[in-house]
Amino acid sequence: METIKSAVVTGASRGIGLAVSRMLLKRGMRVYGLGRSFSTELADCPAFIPIVCDLSHTARLEETVRQIRRETRISLLVNNAGAGYFGPHEELNPRKIHEMTAVNLEAPMILTQLFLRDLKAERGTIINISSVTALQTNTHGCAYGAAKAGLTSFSRSLFEEVRKYGVRVAVIHPDMTATDFYRNAAFRESDEADARLLPEEVAEAAAWILSQREGMGVTEMTVRPQRHVISRKAKKKTEGESYGTT
Ligand SMILES: NC(=O)c1ccc[n+]([C@@H]2O[C@H](COP(=O)([O-])OP(=O)(O)OC[C@H]3O[C@@H](n4cnc5c(N)ncnc54)[C@H](OP(=O)(O)O)[C@@H]3O)[C@@H](O)[C@H]2O)c1
Repeated sequence: METIKSAVVTGASRGIGLAVSRMLLKRGMRVYGLGRSFSTELADCPAFIPIVCDLSHTARLEETVRQIRRETRISLLVNNAGAGYFGPHEELNPRKIHEMTAVNLEAPMILTQLFLRDLKAERGTIINISSVTALQTNTHGCAYGAAKAGLTSFSRSLFEEVRKYGVRVAVIHPDMTATDFYRNAAFRESDEADARLLPEEVAEAAAWILSQREGMGVTEMTVRPQRHVISRKAKKKTEGESYGTT
């Protein structure tokens, strides 16, 4: 088999996924990046292969995976793409709930299933980007938090299933990170350095997981800024109300 290792990174077009892709490219990997719209970022990097794909159309994922498997056998799958809509559950709609469930949970489970044979053959790694919301209750983020809790639960169980094949499974729980993730929310991350993470810092957490010796798996990692501060865009928080975040 080829000597250059290949990775699939979902949501590689921006934010944390772009930072993870850059980190992997620096480590000499070939990266198949999935997303709906790619800018010129990494356009001049031959080892980065952008694949336009809407992960909420889960029925089409098999064809995308076939396309990648015709070219390579991956040794790393990073399920990073995510969608978040926040607010009282009553104010969401079925389309948004479907999108969050499909992108945050269903697509990672389907991609894992479709790539698992290759990952076993490569004694590879799966890294799922979940969220601190998976570990807590999330007023105004019930559906997003439920999808992320599902992803964390999936990761924990999958590790138990595949550890005997040498496949490592890690789930990262980032707290608020400075990306464009909160464009649909009434709040965003703080601009203060000790109250938000940078996407490169989450990528560093992934790099640390990857750099551990074979035989030692880091199964979960939570990365948080020191202080909890959110910037509200419009609506004022009333007493006793807490915004589900990240
Ligand atoms: N930012 C935070 O505070 C934070 C905290 C905790 C966890 N997270 C998680 O971190 C991950 C990355 O988020 P981010 O902060 O980097 O946000 P972001 O800048 O909004 O990036 C989200 C990525 O997901 C992709 N994506 C979204 N919907 C997609 C779809 N239907 N099909 C294909 N790709 C899709 C986007 O690509 P396209 O738009 O090109 O499709 C983009 O590359 C997400 O899973 C998020 O839940 C973020």
